[in-house]
Amino acid sequence: MTRSEAATGMLGVPWSTGVRRRDDGVVAVAGVGVDALAARHGTPAYVLDEADFRARARGYRTAFATAFAEVGTGVDVYYAGKALLTVAVARWAREEGLRVDTASGGELAVALRAGVPGAEIGLHGNNKSDAEILAALDAGVGRIIVDSLVEIDRVAALAASRGVVAPVMVRVTTGVHAGGHEYISTAHEDQKFGLSVNAAPSVALRQAQDAPVGTTDSPAMRALLAVVERPGLRLLGIHSHIGSQILDPAGFEAAAQVVLRLRAELAERTGVLVDDVDLGGGYGIAYLPGEVPLDPDRIAKDVAGAVAAVCGELGTPLPRISIEPGRAVVGPAGLTLYTVGTVKPVALDDGRVRTYVSVDGGMSDNIRPALYEAQYHAELVGRVSDAEPVLARVVGKHCESGDIVVHEVQLPGDVRAGDLLAVPVTGAYGRSMASNYNLLTRPPVVAVAGGTSRVLVRRETVDDLLALDLG
Ligand code: LLP
Repeated sequence: MTRSEAATGMLGVPWSTGVRRRDDGVVAVAGVGVDALAARHGTPAYVLDEADFRARARGYRTAFATAFAEVGTGVDVYYAGKALLTVAVARWAREEGLRVDTASGGELAVALRAGVPGAEIGLHGNNKSDAEILAALDAGVGRIIVDSLVEIDRVAALAASRGVVAPVMVRVTTGVHAGGHEYISTAHEDQKFGLSVNAAPSVALRQAQDAPVGTTDSPAMRALLAVVERPGLRLLGIHSHIGSQILDPAGFEAAAQVVLRLRAELAERTGVLVDDVDLGGGYGIAYLPGEVPLDPDRIAKDVAGAVAAVCGELGTPLPRISIEPGRAVVGPAGLTLYTVGTVKPVALDDGRVRTYVSVDGGMSDNIRPALYEAQYHAELVGRVSDAEPVLARVVGKHCESGDIVVHEVQLPGDVRAGDLLAVPVTGAYGRSMASNYNLLTRPPVVAVAGGTSRVLVRRETVDDLLALDLG
């Protein structure tokens, strides 16, 4: 029996650490039964295990702080708010010693509302608006991560208009390609993020990138030089994010090497040795029974070792490191609680039967299966059953056949209307990518800790929807 099986009594499934099946067969989260949660908050609902979130946040901070202290430098851990940001969640992150990475004016506003000091916030985005940049400058954010040459001038002009110096990191693409799905891999060339460390191979591309005649500098180097030259900008360092749901540490190490070489080259050319290197997020987690997540202690040691080795080889002092985990902190802390509405067996061509189990949510509360073919697990949580398991597909209530919550899962053959069903590991990119498709109202985010539940974000109502529609 693994530790997680022992902890949950639910075989091999990555539930949050506070999940147990009680003797009466009802699953409880941090001491609150899902029956009580459903009665009090309704379904569907996102349920967050606060202690689990805090433990994972602490786990990442401690693992990286320890590993990098051993090689002689410090680490800042930024919680990537895009995974899930509410005022309470931002507070938990801060209380556990994390900073907050935001990717829009909205995320910035929530972090500030939570009382996160501007200096502990980073602002990302490949197309930030002037209003977002100004909001960041006014809040005194610790770093604006610039993503294009055009944006460097824009940030410099806006900083000048406010009479401040903007602290800037340059986001580079290292060519290291990692992560689950093409849409969530962000450091290869053919996508919108960052500035490439490779010089453009063709004259046409150099022209399109507006490269000065004769230059062989990469867009990344040109961006760094441009920031160094502008008095209204302070170059803090270099940022790289290689993708998401990465399970192989090699990608982080390879990207770190590329970034550290670029840092050394910049120092050689300008005398400016930047202090900070941000290696982004992307730490992979287990979604399905039997999957093995990245272990923060191990990845931290590997990356620290790689960073120390390259700096040793280059003869440059170690930079301060930052990382930006989102999914790995909040993903496993969350589950979605649904109520089963209809059950429909369908005959397959190969003679098998697939049982379609429709729940009261769907692609509006979890777009990941439709968008990335993401796989999830599901379980009946309101009772135990000794009925023979059947091949089931959990689907939502939207007018779309791709509205699938769980492609394939074994559920008890007596699954029926009114059953409570939970999908684990929906804490990251569930609520944050939710929509109102078919004008469904978005579910609440409910936190559970120490035997009590509280609503962090209330359920939307039809009145909320109507209030936006000016007729
Ligand atoms: N830092 C930057 C600059 C990022 O772009 C991202 C994710 C993160 C940190 C956090 O990555 P994480 O540790 O959560 O993997 N919506 C997708 C993933 C796209 C994430 C984009 N950026 C999903 O549902 O899987």
